[in-house]
Amino acid sequence: MIEDLPESLLGTKEHWDHVYAQELSNFHECGDEGEVCKVDSSKPLLEFGSGNGHLLVALAKAGYTRLMGVDYSDSAVTLGAEYAASSGFRHIKFETADLLNKDSINLDPAFLILDKGTFDAISLGPEPDMDAPKTAPGARISLLASRYKDALHQCLSTEPSSMFIITSCNWTRDELVQLFKPDFTAIDEIMHPTFSFGGQTGQTVTTIVFNRKAI
Ligand SMILES: C[S@@+](CC[C@H](N)C(=O)[O-])C[C@H]1O[C@@H](n2cnc3c(N)ncnc32)[C@H](O)[C@@H]1O
Repeated sequence: MIEDLPESLLGTKEHWDHVYAQELSNFHECGDEGEVCKVDSSKPLLEFGSGNGHLLVALAKAGYTRLMGVDYSDSAVTLGAEYAASSGFRHIKFETADLLNKDSINLDPAFLILDKGTFDAISLGPEPDMDAPKTAPGARISLLASRYKDALHQCLSTEPSSMFIITSCNWTRDELVQLFKPDFTAIDEIMHPTFSFGGQTGQTVTTIVFNRKAI
């Protein structure tokens, strides 16, 4: 069974609002946009939790033409849009929405959804449903993953080859596979540098490519 991660500041909107308000101010002062896969470049790509917009700008530089980011922090959305515009990529769109609240999401379906660190942040956040029973261990992460999967279903195109690629520092491949099944199947993994400790070898970062099961 997958256990809940302890709640942390990193799972709160207040934290990310503060981070991106600060980064936005740095960007205004000195043009610093903050800290810093092959798919048909004309397909629509969406980043869940686009933060400062760095990944989307990198994809635009790589030739991708239909890019969109979504984040629940207005400061992140403003920073992403300003950074993209200042990099010459005004066509990148940024929208505000809470991925755990499907009523706040109104986006065109994307062929590829990317997540770099956003599900990690969500996993550290509070219980999304205040009325749900909080007794069983692992109940919080199950509920968070279920809400997140609703957002994936809402935003991912129904094309059979559409994909969702997630990069996580908090969850292993096996945990991600378990969290996203049965709706999504792992079809590939992008390898990162490994480390060995106590006779075990592992990765500090996991990137998994998921395909939605036909419905
Ligand atoms: C670790 S940062 C990663 C940002 C960006 N993907 C990157 O790689 O730099 C997590 C991002 O997820 C956003 N986020 C967290 N929970 C969210 C939610 N429920 N809905 C939308 N965005 C969320 C935060 O505002 C933040 O921008």
